[in-house]
Amino acid sequence: MVAITEAVSLEKQGEIALLWIDNPPVNALGHPVRKGMADGITMAMNDDDIKAIVVICKGRTFCAGADIREFGKPPLEPHLPDVLNTFDQCSKPIIAAIHGTAFGGGLETALSSHFRVAVPSAQFGLPEVKLGLLPGAGGTQRLPRLIGPEKALPMVATGNPIRADKALKEGVIDEIVAGDLAEGAIAFAQKVLAEKRPMRRVSTMTEKIDEARNKPEIFADYRKQLAKTARGFEAPEACVKAVEAAVHKPFAEGLKYERELFQQLMSGSQSAAQRYYFFAEREVAKIPDIPKDTPLIDIKKVGVIGAGTMGGGITMNFVNAGIPVTLVEAKQEFLDRGLGVIKKNYDISASKGKMTADDVSARMGLIKGTTHMEDLADVDLVIEAVFENMDLKKEIFSKLDAICKPGAILATNTSYLNVDEIAAMTQRPEYVLGLHFFSPANVMRLLEVVRAAKTSIPVLATAMAIAKKIKKIAVMVGVCHGFAGNRMFSQRRRESEKLILEGALPAQVDKVVYDFGFPMGPFQLYDLIGNDLGWSKETSTGDSIRDLICEQGRFGLKASKGYYNYDPGSRVPKPAPEVDQLIVEFSEKKGYKRRGISDEEILQRCIYPIINEGAKILEEKIAVRPSDLDVIWINGYGWPLYRGGPMFYADLVGLDKVLDVMKKFQAEHGDDFKPAALLEKLVKEGKKFASLN
Ligand code: 3HC
Ligand code: NAI
Repeated sequence: MVAITEAVSLEKQGEIALLWIDNPPVNALGHPVRKGMADGITMAMNDDDIKAIVVICKGRTFCAGADIREFGKPPLEPHLPDVLNTFDQCSKPIIAAIHGTAFGGGLETALSSHFRVAVPSAQFGLPEVKLGLLPGAGGTQRLPRLIGPEKALPMVATGNPIRADKALKEGVIDEIVAGDLAEGAIAFAQKVLAEKRPMRRVSTMTEKIDEARNKPEIFADYRKQLAKTARGFEAPEACVKAVEAAVHKPFAEGLKYERELFQQLMSGSQSAAQRYYFFAEREVAKIPDIPKDTPLIDIKKVGVIGAGTMGGGITMNFVNAGIPVTLVEAKQEFLDRGLGVIKKNYDISASKGKMTADDVSARMGLIKGTTHMEDLADVDLVIEAVFENMDLKKEIFSKLDAICKPGAILATNTSYLNVDEIAAMTQRPEYVLGLHFFSPANVMRLLEVVRAAKTSIPVLATAMAIAKKIKKIAVMVGVCHGFAGNRMFSQRRRESEKLILEGALPAQVDKVVYDFGFPMGPFQLYDLIGNDLGWSKETSTGDSIRDLICEQGRFGLKASKGYYNYDPGSRVPKPAPEVDQLIVEFSEKKGYKRRGISDEEILQRCIYPIINEGAKILEEKIAVRPSDLDVIWINGYGWPLYRGGPMFYADLVGLDKVLDVMKKFQAEHGDDFKPAALLEKLVKEGKKFASLN
């Protein structure tokens, strides 16, 4: 074995050379790897004893792509496209031997090799689009030549990977190796040599693209699909353009075009935001005072209290991960209703082919419904999801403390209530915390793990670990009204309601927020979640627009009328002139002199107070770092990924500008806009939120 660089070495086994890549954790194609690959191929070329080369990786995976940490820094030679052209042109057959994830530049490495073999568990993908990029080392030109543009398009433009069996079927790989990968790859290489197989250079293949040349509808149809799923994102369209170029341009020109598009995207703000988010999502798991080796509590069985909107979804999360759940309700009829909703959700998934009828039965079989809280005696974790009422929650926690075994974790799904007060009802406050799921709990990936004053480190570490097991993105936050997400969200709620009193109408506010990139504007969202959430006829004073529309039964989508009108069964909002009239009359009665409000002001009023509240949350150490707040907003509130989250966006706009606008609004509208001390401090020091990440 000869070490070529610190990350690449060459091993000779008879006439086969194994080019080993060893760059933990994911064999990213950083400089030492690229240089080692280029020099290794040259060495093998110059060695007459070597007849074929196997490219193979140590550790958990084949190359998972370019080293994202190098992006934005001055590029070091050799560049990946050049290294891969050397692979392509090599006169000795190169066989890529793949395990784990051949992603991005990793898959491009495999595509530039002449043959590909893989273990059955391997995955293949071009996830660059998720980083706001496109494959920049020939992937957009080689993959369509290998499998045809129709199959290549979704891989390039969605970034979703495929598994080895599909890769074999579609022709991405040549063979699946059942046993040891190195041995299997060597045997494959010997076969190639013995059979004198012709070199399979993907760059020279024409059959699949010739077939596609007269089918422009492939691209038109795909673009229609993208318009629905990728609104606002620049990279997916660039991906389609590049694949289209593979069909219409010679290989070398296609590569050049791909490079141009890659560089355009790389220098834009969308990719910067998406690359930032990639690391932000991985940072959330790192909490300064929770060591990596903290002993975890084994969670074998879970209890959920309340089979309503949240309890049902929470139950599904655990059952989906194979963890049995005891589901407690106050009355049998509520339990039956809750179980019925869960079953219906699974049946819908089954009807869409996402699971089998047996899967549905197996999952329902993991749920034990009961009306006796005593049945929670043997669970390791309880999540309470009853009504948002402090007295009720206190009563439940004091009962749980008596029922549950010592060492069981007691969690509340409260949206706003003080978790310390709830913990104080027990003799085990170190085992109490908040697990704030988002609705619908079986769908939304965000989970706020609420750290109460006395919650112990192993309990927190266990909560973070179990979140990962049930495929959630857990963000740790502290106790305050609404924790991090809802506390920031309430700023937008307040401003949206003020804006319609001052002169805007719901449709204008919604359009601005939608055009910014949220899936819907605030008023459409209120209609969706129900305008009557937290409202009651008995306590309604008629002193706000919301009170008035609820008094008219305009509860939102479920009533087919709210701030908008809806055709029965439709989610598409239609204008409601009667509501606009109500808003105008009410605001004038209240003494507002309605004025035209610019889209710019609407956007700033809906966004800057969120940023400001985020700064206060950081000041109070409710969140660990600014990027955690961005992860919360992207996963819990529909903040457009390509804008990186509110704190990233604030850095991009300039904190001095955010501060100036907040001060202007403060002078005009009062202390709702009082700038956070942290915002003032950062501006004074010429720093960004990024300096706190
Ligand atoms: N570059 C640099 N670091 C990377 C990386 C990459 N491409 N991929 C992963 N890492 C780092 C992560 O940041 C993490 O670091 P940390 O431990 O310090 O937080 C570590 O590797 C492990 O990653 P995960 O926690 O994500 O590990 P998993 O086992 O859950 O997932 C994976 C592994 C599926 C490979 C996942 O990391 C992944 O999807 N990585 C990104 C793949 C990607 O986007 N590739 C395309 C890159 S762009 C490109 O190739 C351009 C080319 O076309 C020119
Ligand atoms: P829900 O009203 O849909 O469900 C509550 C359920 O608890 C009802 O089925 C009720 O019968 C049951 N329940 C009441 N008392 C009980 C008792 N003593 N024992 C057993 N079951 C009892 O309420 P939802 O929306 O599911 O909210 C539950 C909790 O989750 C609240 O604290 C809420 O703030 C929080 N939450 C709600 C979100 C939402 O969007 N709905 C989002 C995040 C958190």
